[in-house]
Order: sequence, then structure tokens, then C-alpha cells
Amino acid sequence: MIKKGIILSGGMGTRMSPLTKAVNKQLLPIYDKPLIFYPLSILMLAKIKDILIIINKGQLDQYKKILPDGKRLGIKITYIEQESPKGLPDAFILGDKFIGKDDVSLILGDNFFYGQYLSTRLLECVQLKKGAKVLLHRVAKPERYGVAKVNKNKITLIKEKPKKFISDLAITGLYFFDNRVVKFSKELKPSKRNELEITDLLNKYRKKNQLSADYIGRGGAWLDTGSIEDFYKTSNFVSAIENQQGFKIACIEEIAFLNKWINKTHILDAIKFYGNCEYSHYLKKLITK
Ligand code: TTP
Repeated sequence: MIKKGIILSGGMGTRMSPLTKAVNKQLLPIYDKPLIFYPLSILMLAKIKDILIIINKGQLDQYKKILPDGKRLGIKITYIEQESPKGLPDAFILGDKFIGKDDVSLILGDNFFYGQYLSTRLLECVQLKKGAKVLLHRVAKPERYGVAKVNKNKITLIKEKPKKFISDLAITGLYFFDNRVVKFSKELKPSKRNELEITDLLNKYRKKNQLSADYIGRGGAWLDTGSIEDFYKTSNFVSAIENQQGFKIACIEEIAFLNKWINKTHILDAIKFYGNCEYSHYLKKLITK
């Protein structure tokens, strides 16, 4: 059972400059809340309470203002600063001590997931005992993504941005690994672009026939918010759902409350913390129902 999670929340955010010159991408708004709330909510839906957030050097104060240590959510949040973006597997090298002898999941700070049965899927994924698992999602333009070919839920081939069609199943930014991930990451060599590559890490498991796949399904959405266009698309998506249905996506206090990790007093504290805003009004409704 995976009980620890890492959010990779650094990066240069080059594609979103100048917005990302002073503020980290994951602290920018997706509609009514900072982007970081969305990947955090996914780990919380997977009932993961021990969370490491990897951030850029020098941005700890910014993050602590919005997510101090997790107490308010009944979880534990720790931070580690990344010197420079060395690639996704660097999360497991930096996170070595945090991971210890446990298995771990990784979510990219700029990935957005939403959909029916998502929580059930997540709870299945954290049951992983051996190997690694990725979440796949069908996409219209596979040439833009890392894609996987699958045979009965086992991944047989991975290709980063394939020019020739091999599959339309994109590998999303949510991964589940057994404890060997630390050792495997340390064995990786930087690629031509001088980064440790997640594909190389996944291939270590694939070669042992220990890389499996789960699916978000056609009722679900996966959006990568790397570009300004994607950012606004995702914001519009959240706004449409929230305004039509009247509930919030990625309200982290609501998830903690429903998981019974916090009580009404914590919600009242959160309302005080956020001040008089629409988000607080929503929290108020939660405890006066
Ligand atoms: P990327 O999309 O590869 O990078 P980025 O967000 O900095 O954007 P750009 O390409 O426009 O410069 O990263 C995906 C996510 O992972 C993103 O949330 C940043 C994070 N990340 C790190 O925190 N550390 C790293 O070393 C890398 C490569 C990414």
C-alpha cells in the first residue's frame, strides 16, 4: 500500500514566461485556486497523507504562505528545494530520505486530473505491491506526448513524442513505484538535454515486465497545464464544472473533511485563514449542511 507521495512543483515554466518570472507556475491560478491544489487533491483522494513537495530553490516562503505544513488538512507536508530542474527522476534522489523503505507515488505539479471513478482508480493504484504503474489517457495528438503500447495491462513499449504512430495512449504525470525507484533513479545517466528522463526510469521496470498501466477512461479528463493556452483551457474547464454543478474541484479542505482527517474546527480555521472570499463561503456551506 503506497502511503507516501511526491509533488514535483519546481521547474522553470519557460513556456509561461513572463508570468513565471517572479511566481512559480504551480502558485498561479487555475480558476479559483492555485494550481498546486489540484495535484495535492489527487494525492489526498488516494488517501496519501505523507507528502513531499519539491520546489525551486528560494521559493519556500511563497509556498509556506499557502501550504505551511499540512496540519490544517490533517496531513504532513515537507518541502525540499531543487537546485535546478534536473529531470523528473531527480524527485526520487532528492526524496531518498523521505521515501525511506517505502513505496511512493509521484505527481507532476502541473498536471490536472478529473473524472468519474477517479478516486476508485487511485485507491486501486496505491495497492501496488511490486513494480511500477502509470496512468494512461487516450489523446488525439500522441506525437506531443510520451506514449505507451500495452498488452493486457503490461506496457511493452514507451516512446517519447513518436513521429510514427505507435499508440494513442499518453503517459500522464501520475506514477506509482515500489521502493526500488530510488536505486533505479540513482543509476540513470543524464540524456542529451542533460536531464534524467522518466522514460529511462520507466524502461527499467518495463524490461523486467513490471510496468503496468491503468486508465483514466473516456469519462475523465487529463490536462497538462504547461502552456498559457492550456492554463486557460483548464481554468475554463474548472469554471464550467464548478459553476454548473455547484461543487468545487480540488477543494483540499473538503477532501480532508470527507476523509475524516479534520473536523469542523479545522474548517473554521481555514475560513479565517482565507478570509472573506467565495472559497470560504463554500467551506462554510460544508459545515452548515
Ligand atoms: P516541465 O513541463 O518539463 O517543465 P516546466 O514546468 O519548467 O515548463 P517549461 O518546459 O515551460 O520550462 O515539468 C513538468 C512539471 O515538473 C512541472 O510542474 C515542473 C516540474 N519539474 C520539476 O519540479 N523539476 C524538474 O527537474 C523538472 C524537469 C520538472
